[in-house]
Amino acid sequence: MTLKVVLVLAVLSGFVSSRPPTDNGPGHPRGPPSPPYLKNVSDDARKEFFDIVNNDNLTLAEIDTQLATWAESNDISDSYSEFEAKKASYIAEIKAKVTSVVSNLPTVQSQLESIFENKDQTRSAQREQLDELRNKYPQEVGVILKLVGLIGLGFQKGPRDIGRIGLPRIQ
Ligand SMILES: *[C@@H]1O[C@H](CO)[C@@H](O)[C@H](O)[C@H]1NC(C)=O
Ligand SMILES: *[C@@H]1O[C@H](CO)[C@@H](O)[C@H](O)[C@H]1NC(C)=O
Repeated sequence: MTLKVVLVLAVLSGFVSSRPPTDNGPGHPRGPPSPPYLKNVSDDARKEFFDIVNNDNLTLAEIDTQLATWAESNDISDSYSEFEAKKASYIAEIKAKVTSVVSNLPTVQSQLESIFENKDQTRSAQREQLDELRNKYPQEVGVILKLVGLIGLGFQKGPRDIGRIGLPRIQ
């Protein structure tokens, strides 16, 4: 499995397990809403559910197996499977999008570099080019600019002894 896929899965596997065990409400302010089938089970069953998903001693596969058993014994296997299938297709969709963005990065990077390095244009022409590229590849441009910021060559601010680098504002 590639790194990007691992990252996406790491984020998404927090989907359910990051929820606090006592939260029975319609959704945590910072998390996803509870799976809809949780509304149809007893308080005890709901507690069992959270005991499973929040048990750090279980492997992810063990959590899946125990949840399937839990769903069966609470007579909601259909809703459970339906939700799991939706989750799987959502994850697949994100993986496909990430793959596409990652594969576009080299070409967008070189286009960005050409835009920034071409001095035979006015600033406003440069800005237009950037906007165009950004409209075409919003996520790719966003990722590259974030990387530039992370690595430290801020587009708007350079190191102290350089000050403003003088590139156009792009955010
Ligand atoms: C909850 O139970 C109701 C009544 O049996 C049913 O109509 C509904 O589909 C169930 N919802 C879920 C998410 O299981
Ligand atoms: C997890 O394992 C630790 C160490 O073996 C144990 O103390 C703890 O009770 C276990 N937690 C659960 C929820 O089983």
